[in-house]
Amino acid sequence: MGSIWTVAVTRKIPDAGLRPLQETSEIKLWDQELPPSPEELDGLLDGCDGAITLLTDRIDGPVLDRHPGLRVISNFAVGYDNIDVPAASERGVLVCNTPEVLTSATADHTWALLLAAARRIPESIAYVRDGKWKTWGPLLLLGREVSGGTIGIVGLGRIGKEVAKRARGFDMRVLAFDPFEDAAFAKEHGITYVPLEQLVAESDFVTLHVALTDETHHLIGATELSRMKPTAILVNASRGQVVDTAALVDALRSGSILGAALDVTDPEPLSADHPLVNMTSCIVVPHTASATVQTRDRMAELAAKNLLAGLSGERPPAAVNADEVM
Ligand code: DGY
Repeated sequence: MGSIWTVAVTRKIPDAGLRPLQETSEIKLWDQELPPSPEELDGLLDGCDGAITLLTDRIDGPVLDRHPGLRVISNFAVGYDNIDVPAASERGVLVCNTPEVLTSATADHTWALLLAAARRIPESIAYVRDGKWKTWGPLLLLGREVSGGTIGIVGLGRIGKEVAKRARGFDMRVLAFDPFEDAAFAKEHGITYVPLEQLVAESDFVTLHVALTDETHHLIGATELSRMKPTAILVNASRGQVVDTAALVDALRSGSILGAALDVTDPEPLSADHPLVNMTSCIVVPHTASATVQTRDRMAELAAKNLLAGLSGERPPAAVNADEVM
């Protein structure tokens, strides 16, 4: 079959996503390690009917106006705060994302971060590597107990719910804050919804799983951090801007909280000399919560399916503005 569409793919993605596109489309692939600049993105989108974009690509009204042929933006991520969705809807452009396929991987990774911070795993590895391990010590590298503690989940959506399910294996008390309550799920899994103020005050571990919106920007700031226990650990697997970075640096420096484990930061990336990167009380990983081979294959497949369905005039499996546009 000849190429029906021209599509941009703004970074190398797994073959599972490229293969279905190759069958129908001419692909303009950005194959560099770093994202395209806004000018390079314009060049890439030129003449395209649709695009698979990443969270590092800003797609807004002016970008869409410069490329009126674009009909579908298929984001290779569940989050789509890099896209101005109302601007896309106004222009009849479908916006798609990749929910569900990354839920388990992200929840698993949240627990990896939580456990690593609580049990001081990065420090322990460095201790051994640095040749400091001389003997077993009763006071050596003491962490915080996870089992039996209280976990506070901010944002009890798909990922928050999977984090909550895993908490049962640790016999934890589970608190949640979410304006949209799922009473049946909470009852089944022994979760108590509480106001944010109470959640931060009572939790040993506060973990963030909200989408970035105007309402969640700096949801965790100086006030919330000051209410947390001095023994508490903050985990962020949502978006960096949900936390006020300066306030977090202050809280860690002053010891008003014990630690933080961050999959996401503001800004992203953090430079190697950033205070958060250089505090033993803070773990930073490079936004890798969904980074498993299996999950990235599924994300690529779904992103391609979304794009091709949208271009064919069918309702994509995961479109965020289908009701507005179709
Ligand atoms: C997302 O999907 O939004 C994550 O941040 C990257 O997988």
